[in-house]
Amino acid sequence: MGDRLAGRVAVVTGGGHGLGRAYCERFAAEGAAVVVAELDERAGEETRAALRAAGARALAVPTDVADAASLARMVERAEATFGGVDVLVNNAAVFASVPVSRSAFDEIDPAEWDAVMRVNLAGTWLACRAVAPLMRRRGYGKIVNVSSDTAFKPVRGMAHYVASKAGVVGLTRVLAHELGPDGVRVNCVAPGSTLSEDEPDEELLAAKRQRALGQALPGVLSVQDITGAVLFLASRESDAVTGQTVLVNAGAALH
Ligand SMILES: NC(=O)c1ccc[n+]([C@@H]2O[C@H](COP(=O)([O-])OP(=O)(O)OC[C@H]3O[C@@H](n4cnc5c(N)ncnc54)[C@H](O)[C@@H]3O)[C@@H](O)[C@H]2O)c1
Repeated sequence: MGDRLAGRVAVVTGGGHGLGRAYCERFAAEGAAVVVAELDERAGEETRAALRAAGARALAVPTDVADAASLARMVERAEATFGGVDVLVNNAAVFASVPVSRSAFDEIDPAEWDAVMRVNLAGTWLACRAVAPLMRRRGYGKIVNVSSDTAFKPVRGMAHYVASKAGVVGLTRVLAHELGPDGVRVNCVAPGSTLSEDEPDEELLAAKRQRALGQALPGVLSVQDITGAVLFLASRESDAVTGQTVLVNAGAALH
Protein backbone atom coordinates (compact mmCIF):
# COMPACT_ATOMS: atom_id res chain seq x y z
CA MET A 1 0.00 0.00 0.00
CA GLY A 2 1.20 3.50 -0.84
CA ASP A 3 -0.21 7.01 -0.77
CA ARG A 4 0.57 8.39 -4.21
CA LEU A 5 -3.15 8.95 -4.88
CA ALA A 6 -4.25 9.56 -1.29
CA GLY A 7 -7.44 11.65 -1.20
CA ARG A 8 -7.91 11.45 -4.98
CA VAL A 9 -11.02 10.28 -6.79
CA ALA A 10 -10.20 8.29 -9.93
CA VAL A 11 -12.60 7.21 -12.68
CA VAL A 12 -11.44 4.25 -14.75
CA THR A 13 -13.57 3.51 -17.82
CA GLY A 14 -13.69 -0.15 -18.75
CA GLY A 15 -12.45 -1.03 -15.26
CA GLY A 16 -14.21 -4.40 -15.17
CA HIS A 17 -11.72 -6.44 -17.16
CA GLY A 18 -8.05 -6.77 -18.02
CA LEU A 19 -5.89 -3.67 -17.90
CA GLY A 20 -8.71 -1.45 -16.60
CA ARG A 21 -9.20 -3.67 -13.57
CA ALA A 22 -5.43 -3.61 -12.94
CA TYR A 23 -5.47 0.23 -12.97
CA CYS A 24 -8.37 0.21 -10.49
CA GLU A 25 -6.50 -2.14 -8.14
CA ARG A 26 -3.24 -0.18 -8.39
CA PHE A 27 -4.98 3.16 -7.80
CA ALA A 28 -6.91 1.79 -4.82
CA ALA A 29 -3.67 0.43 -3.34
CA GLU A 30 -2.28 3.98 -3.61
CA GLY A 31 -5.16 5.48 -1.63
CA ALA A 32 -7.58 6.59 -4.35
CA ALA A 33 -11.36 6.25 -4.21
CA VAL A 34 -12.12 4.46 -7.48
CA VAL A 35 -15.14 4.75 -9.77
CA VAL A 36 -15.41 1.74 -12.07
CA ALA A 37 -17.24 3.04 -15.17
CA GLU A 38 -17.93 -0.15 -17.09
CA LEU A 39 -20.32 -1.30 -19.80
CA ASP A 40 -20.31 -4.87 -18.44
CA GLU A 41 -22.28 -4.33 -15.25
CA ARG A 42 -21.36 -7.67 -13.67
CA ALA A 43 -17.62 -7.18 -14.31
CA GLY A 44 -17.74 -3.63 -12.94
CA GLU A 45 -19.46 -4.91 -9.82
CA GLU A 46 -16.80 -7.62 -9.40
CA THR A 47 -14.02 -5.05 -9.53
CA ARG A 48 -15.86 -2.85 -7.03
CA ALA A 49 -16.31 -5.80 -4.64
CA ALA A 50 -12.61 -6.72 -4.90
CA LEU A 51 -11.54 -3.13 -4.18
CA ARG A 52 -13.90 -2.88 -1.20
CA ALA A 53 -12.67 -6.25 0.12
CA ALA A 54 -9.14 -4.82 0.01
CA GLY A 55 -10.30 -1.89 2.15
CA ALA A 56 -10.61 0.76 -0.58
CA ARG A 57 -13.45 3.17 -1.32
CA ALA A 58 -15.04 2.10 -4.59
CA LEU A 59 -18.15 2.60 -6.67
CA ALA A 60 -19.25 0.78 -9.82
CA VAL A 61 -21.46 2.67 -12.26
CA PRO A 62 -22.74 0.92 -15.39
CA THR A 63 -21.52 3.27 -18.13
CA ASP A 64 -21.41 3.37 -21.91
CA VAL A 65 -18.66 5.78 -22.95
CA ALA A 66 -20.27 6.09 -26.38
CA ASP A 67 -23.27 7.76 -24.74
CA ALA A 68 -22.89 11.30 -23.37
CA ALA A 69 -25.98 10.95 -21.14
CA SER A 70 -24.62 7.75 -19.59
CA LEU A 71 -21.29 9.50 -18.86
CA ALA A 72 -23.12 12.47 -17.32
CA ARG A 73 -25.00 10.10 -14.96
CA MET A 74 -21.72 8.39 -14.01
CA VAL A 75 -20.03 11.72 -13.20
CA GLU A 76 -23.06 12.79 -11.14
CA ARG A 77 -22.84 9.57 -9.09
CA ALA A 78 -19.08 10.02 -8.65
CA GLU A 79 -19.56 13.58 -7.43
CA ALA A 80 -22.46 12.68 -5.13
CA THR A 81 -20.49 9.77 -3.62
CA PHE A 82 -16.94 11.10 -3.45
CA GLY A 83 -17.31 14.87 -3.96
CA GLY A 84 -15.57 15.24 -7.33
CA VAL A 85 -13.24 13.65 -9.87
CA ASP A 86 -9.46 14.23 -9.89
CA VAL A 87 -8.29 11.50 -12.26
CA LEU A 88 -9.81 9.99 -15.41
CA VAL A 89 -8.34 6.99 -17.21
CA ASN A 90 -9.91 6.53 -20.63
CA ASN A 91 -9.29 2.80 -20.89
CA ALA A 92 -12.61 1.52 -22.32
CA ALA A 93 -12.41 0.30 -25.89
CA VAL A 94 -13.72 -2.11 -28.41
CA PHE A 95 -10.79 -4.51 -28.28
CA ALA A 96 -10.98 -7.86 -26.40
CA SER A 97 -13.96 -8.12 -24.02
CA VAL A 98 -16.02 -6.29 -26.62
CA PRO A 99 -14.06 -7.74 -29.53
CA VAL A 100 -12.76 -6.00 -32.62
CA SER A 101 -12.67 -8.06 -35.82
CA ARG A 102 -9.42 -8.74 -37.66
CA SER A 103 -10.04 -7.95 -41.34
CA ALA A 104 -8.22 -6.34 -44.23
CA PHE A 105 -8.98 -2.62 -44.53
CA ASP A 106 -11.22 -3.17 -47.54
CA GLU A 107 -13.23 -5.87 -45.81
CA ILE A 108 -14.06 -3.99 -42.60
CA ASP A 109 -17.80 -3.54 -42.23
CA PRO A 110 -18.49 0.24 -42.29
CA ALA A 111 -20.86 -0.22 -39.33
CA GLU A 112 -18.03 -1.78 -37.31
CA TRP A 113 -15.69 1.06 -38.34
CA ASP A 114 -18.21 3.54 -36.94
CA ALA A 115 -18.72 1.55 -33.73
CA VAL A 116 -14.96 1.32 -33.05
CA MET A 117 -14.50 5.06 -33.65
CA ARG A 118 -17.53 5.85 -31.51
CA VAL A 119 -16.27 3.98 -28.44
CA ASN A 120 -12.47 4.23 -28.74
CA LEU A 121 -12.13 7.81 -30.00
CA ALA A 122 -15.42 9.68 -29.47
CA GLY A 123 -15.85 7.85 -26.13
CA THR A 124 -12.52 9.22 -24.96
CA TRP A 125 -13.52 12.74 -26.03
CA LEU A 126 -16.97 12.46 -24.42
CA ALA A 127 -15.54 11.21 -21.11
CA CYS A 128 -13.03 14.11 -21.05
CA ARG A 129 -15.94 16.47 -21.74
CA ALA A 130 -17.96 14.95 -18.90
CA VAL A 131 -15.26 15.36 -16.21
CA ALA A 132 -13.78 18.67 -17.42
CA PRO A 133 -16.21 20.95 -15.50
CA LEU A 134 -15.35 19.22 -12.20
CA MET A 135 -11.61 19.40 -12.83
CA ARG A 136 -11.83 23.02 -13.96
CA ARG A 137 -13.70 23.86 -10.78
CA ARG A 138 -10.86 22.41 -8.69
CA GLY A 139 -8.20 23.96 -10.95
CA TYR A 140 -6.52 20.57 -11.13
CA GLY A 141 -6.98 17.23 -12.85
CA LYS A 142 -5.19 14.33 -14.48
CA ILE A 143 -6.49 12.63 -17.61
CA VAL A 144 -4.73 9.53 -18.90
CA ASN A 145 -5.89 8.38 -22.31
CA VAL A 146 -5.13 4.91 -23.60
CA SER A 147 -3.78 4.49 -27.11
CA SER A 148 -1.85 1.45 -28.38
CA ASP A 149 1.61 0.90 -29.77
CA THR A 150 -0.13 -0.34 -32.92
CA ALA A 151 -0.65 3.37 -33.67
CA PHE A 152 3.16 3.67 -34.00
CA LYS A 153 4.11 0.53 -35.86
CA PRO A 154 2.20 -1.16 -38.63
CA VAL A 155 -0.04 -4.15 -37.94
CA ARG A 156 -2.27 -5.71 -40.53
CA GLY A 157 -5.98 -6.30 -40.21
CA MET A 158 -7.08 -3.69 -37.67
CA ALA A 159 -7.24 -0.41 -39.60
CA HIS A 160 -10.29 0.82 -37.66
CA TYR A 161 -8.76 0.04 -34.26
CA VAL A 162 -5.35 1.50 -35.17
CA ALA A 163 -6.90 4.66 -36.64
CA SER A 164 -8.99 5.12 -33.47
CA LYS A 165 -5.90 4.73 -31.27
CA ALA A 166 -3.87 7.14 -33.43
CA GLY A 167 -6.75 9.60 -33.03
CA VAL A 168 -6.44 9.30 -29.24
CA VAL A 169 -2.83 10.56 -29.48
CA GLY A 170 -3.91 13.65 -31.43
CA LEU A 171 -6.84 14.28 -29.12
CA THR A 172 -4.49 14.09 -26.13
CA ARG A 173 -2.27 16.82 -27.56
CA VAL A 174 -5.18 19.15 -28.34
CA LEU A 175 -6.81 18.68 -24.93
CA ALA A 176 -3.50 19.28 -23.15
CA HIS A 177 -3.50 22.74 -24.76
CA GLU A 178 -7.17 23.47 -24.13
CA LEU A 179 -7.23 22.27 -20.51
CA GLY A 180 -3.71 23.29 -19.49
CA PRO A 181 -4.71 26.82 -18.42
CA ASP A 182 -7.16 25.21 -15.97
CA GLY A 183 -4.48 23.03 -14.37
CA VAL A 184 -5.67 19.84 -16.06
CA ARG A 185 -2.91 17.58 -17.40
CA VAL A 186 -3.77 15.30 -20.31
CA ASN A 187 -1.40 12.49 -21.23
CA CYS A 188 -1.56 9.16 -22.98
CA VAL A 189 -0.19 5.65 -22.52
CA ALA A 190 0.31 3.36 -25.51
CA PRO A 191 0.69 -0.23 -24.29
CA GLY A 192 2.34 -2.91 -26.33
CA SER A 193 0.83 -6.34 -26.75
CA THR A 194 -0.14 -7.35 -23.20
CA LEU A 195 -1.48 -10.54 -21.70
CA SER A 196 -4.59 -8.95 -20.27
CA GLU A 197 -7.08 -11.81 -20.60
CA ASP A 198 -7.99 -13.72 -17.44
CA GLU A 199 -7.90 -17.10 -19.16
CA PRO A 200 -5.88 -16.91 -22.38
CA ASP A 201 -6.02 -19.99 -24.59
CA GLU A 202 -2.90 -21.55 -26.15
CA GLU A 203 -3.51 -19.88 -29.53
CA LEU A 204 -3.68 -16.42 -27.97
CA LEU A 205 -0.60 -17.09 -25.84
CA ALA A 206 1.34 -18.22 -28.92
CA ALA A 207 0.31 -15.05 -30.81
CA LYS A 208 1.40 -12.82 -27.91
CA ARG A 209 4.73 -14.70 -27.61
CA GLN A 210 5.25 -14.19 -31.34
CA ARG A 211 4.61 -10.43 -31.06
CA ALA A 212 6.98 -10.20 -28.07
CA LEU A 213 9.83 -11.36 -30.32
CA GLY A 214 9.80 -7.86 -31.86
CA GLN A 215 10.48 -6.19 -28.51
CA ALA A 216 13.85 -4.87 -27.34
CA LEU A 217 13.14 -6.41 -23.92
CA PRO A 218 12.18 -10.10 -23.88
CA GLY A 219 8.95 -11.57 -22.55
CA VAL A 220 5.21 -11.09 -22.95
CA LEU A 221 3.99 -7.97 -21.11
CA SER A 222 1.61 -8.47 -18.19
CA VAL A 223 -0.95 -5.97 -16.87
CA GLN A 224 1.42 -5.17 -13.98
CA ASP A 225 3.97 -3.97 -16.54
CA ILE A 226 1.58 -1.24 -17.69
CA THR A 227 0.13 0.09 -14.43
CA GLY A 228 3.27 1.95 -13.29
CA ALA A 229 3.25 4.42 -16.18
CA VAL A 230 -0.48 5.06 -15.74
CA LEU A 231 -0.02 5.61 -12.01
CA PHE A 232 2.84 8.05 -12.69
CA LEU A 233 0.68 10.05 -15.11
CA ALA A 234 -2.22 10.04 -12.62
CA SER A 235 -0.09 11.20 -9.70
CA ARG A 236 1.45 14.53 -8.65
CA GLU A 237 4.86 13.21 -9.76
CA SER A 238 3.99 14.01 -13.39
CA ASP A 239 2.54 17.47 -12.84
CA ALA A 240 5.01 19.08 -15.28
CA VAL A 241 4.11 16.58 -18.01
CA THR A 242 1.21 17.16 -20.41
CA GLY A 243 0.32 16.31 -24.00
CA GLN A 244 2.70 13.34 -23.98
CA THR A 245 2.30 9.75 -25.08
CA VAL A 246 4.37 7.11 -23.28
CA LEU A 247 4.92 3.86 -25.15
CA VAL A 248 4.93 1.05 -22.58
CA ASN A 249 5.84 -1.72 -24.97
CA ALA A 250 9.21 -3.13 -23.95
CA GLY A 251 10.80 -1.26 -26.86
CA ALA A 252 8.71 -2.89 -29.57
CA ALA A 253 8.20 0.20 -31.71
CA LEU A 254 11.97 0.73 -31.97
CA HIS A 255 12.05 -1.67 -34.90
N1 LIG B 1 -4.07 -5.87 -24.08
C1 LIG B 1 -3.33 -5.32 -25.02
O1 LIG B 1 -2.51 -5.99 -25.65
C2 LIG B 1 -3.46 -3.84 -25.35
C3 LIG B 1 -2.46 -3.24 -26.13
C4 LIG B 1 -2.57 -1.88 -26.44
C5 LIG B 1 -3.66 -1.15 -25.99
N2 LIG B 1 -4.63 -1.79 -25.24
C6 LIG B 1 -5.76 -0.96 -24.80
O2 LIG B 1 -5.90 -1.09 -23.40
C7 LIG B 1 -7.28 -0.97 -23.05
C8 LIG B 1 -7.71 -2.17 -22.23
O3 LIG B 1 -7.53 -3.33 -22.98
P1 LIG B 1 -7.71 -4.81 -22.42
O4 LIG B 1 -6.64 -5.62 -23.05
O5 LIG B 1 -7.87 -4.81 -20.95
O6 LIG B 1 -9.05 -5.26 -23.16
P2 LIG B 1 -10.58 -5.31 -22.72
O7 LIG B 1 -11.35 -5.37 -24.00
O8 LIG B 1 -10.81 -6.41 -21.77
O9 LIG B 1 -10.83 -3.93 -21.96
C9 LIG B 1 -11.72 -2.95 -22.38
C10 LIG B 1 -12.77 -2.70 -21.32
O10 LIG B 1 -13.67 -1.69 -21.81
C11 LIG B 1 -15.00 -2.11 -21.60
N3 LIG B 1 -15.84 -1.46 -22.60
C12 LIG B 1 -15.98 -1.75 -23.91
N4 LIG B 1 -16.83 -0.90 -24.50
C13 LIG B 1 -17.24 -0.03 -23.55
C14 LIG B 1 -18.13 1.09 -23.54
N5 LIG B 1 -18.79 1.45 -24.65
N6 LIG B 1 -18.31 1.77 -22.38
C15 LIG B 1 -17.67 1.38 -21.25
N7 LIG B 1 -16.84 0.32 -21.18
C16 LIG B 1 -16.62 -0.37 -22.33
C17 LIG B 1 -14.96 -3.62 -21.72
O11 LIG B 1 -16.08 -4.24 -21.11
C18 LIG B 1 -13.64 -3.92 -21.00
O12 LIG B 1 -13.83 -4.01 -19.61
C19 LIG B 1 -8.03 -0.76 -24.35
O13 LIG B 1 -8.17 0.62 -24.58
C20 LIG B 1 -7.10 -1.37 -25.38
O14 LIG B 1 -7.32 -0.83 -26.66
C21 LIG B 1 -4.56 -3.10 -24.91
